[in-house]
Amino acid sequence: MIDLKPGSFFENVELSEDEKEIIIIDQVQLPNNEVYLHLNQLEDLYQAIKKLQIRGAPAIGIFAGYSMYVLTQQYDNLPFEQFYQKFTEDKEYLNSSRPTAVNLPWALNRIDKVVLENKDKDVKEIVRLIGLEAKEIHREDKEMCLKICEYGLTLLEDGDGVLTICNTGPLATSRGTAIGPLILGKQRGYDFKVFANETRPLLQGARLTTLELQKAGVDVTLICDSMASIVMKNGWINVCFVGCDRIAANGDFANKIGTSTLAILAKHYGIPIYSLGPTSTIDMNCPDGNHIEIELRDPSEIAEKWYQQPMAPKKVKCYNPAFDVTEHSLLTGFVTEKGIVYPPFDVNLKKLFEE
Ligand code: MRU
Repeated sequence: MIDLKPGSFFENVELSEDEKEIIIIDQVQLPNNEVYLHLNQLEDLYQAIKKLQIRGAPAIGIFAGYSMYVLTQQYDNLPFEQFYQKFTEDKEYLNSSRPTAVNLPWALNRIDKVVLENKDKDVKEIVRLIGLEAKEIHREDKEMCLKICEYGLTLLEDGDGVLTICNTGPLATSRGTAIGPLILGKQRGYDFKVFANETRPLLQGARLTTLELQKAGVDVTLICDSMASIVMKNGWINVCFVGCDRIAANGDFANKIGTSTLAILAKHYGIPIYSLGPTSTIDMNCPDGNHIEIELRDPSEIAEKWYQQPMAPKKVKCYNPAFDVTEHSLLTGFVTEKGIVYPPFDVNLKKLFEE
């Protein structure tokens, strides 16, 4: 059960006891049904990412690592050449499930490195090492999230109004990124007033963020995406906390569609806006936001979903990007596990990897 009472944390991705299956809660069915999925077949694992049964950049990375572990156990009797060929096909297929969050290729490349560095070992041993690496990715994410929560909390005052978008809590990240400090703050006696954008088209804000914050006892108010300006104008927002799915080397970053709108509004109203995420979300090989591939999703998510009947005429043309890029000039800072990064982002993001 999702449980965010003080001191407890919900695990968004777990291995079964025999380590042959991955267990996730089906995020598409939340908040109405808590359905757990046990997965170990390539197509099911691919579809779980594609359909957003597991979602959120860090969670996708963790899930990808464990996916390679449960899959490779099924062909650990092959000689290395054949094993690596199958491994590469599976890895590439999983990597094609969604394009924007860098955590997916980042985690898969970590697993690939383990395989290549140990190619002279017995294949069963290589698979065991894949399992250890997948667990390490998960462990590191928990640790990074906890540090991000601490750094994020230093930016907040008791009583602050905070606007957020999409879902960046323990469902999407191991311990929370953008809303992690709000949950941590509540546990330490702070009272925030959080406004959660519903986050069209898939309503992760309405379905998941409000659920997590409610369970954690945080005061949360749901708004439609188009209401962000009025709550800022009313003086109810002291700061915006958003997540990130890929941060380019110059500080432009992709996050859930609607984030750039919030950043433009925040600038207009003079409200600071921070993007919170682990350094695994920084892609130093990507020079700027123009080089980030934006996922386009099924038109039915706009035209039909969430209604008893389709909301738009049949075959209407739809444009349904899942993410947008916020220009670095609009952002106040990035909150990472290594600290808070301020402009100039091209210089200061690079420093994170030099230490
Ligand atoms: O399409 P999703 O639900 O996988 O989108 C990811 C997100 O939840 C956000 O963009 C988030 O801010 C970054 S990942 C915690």
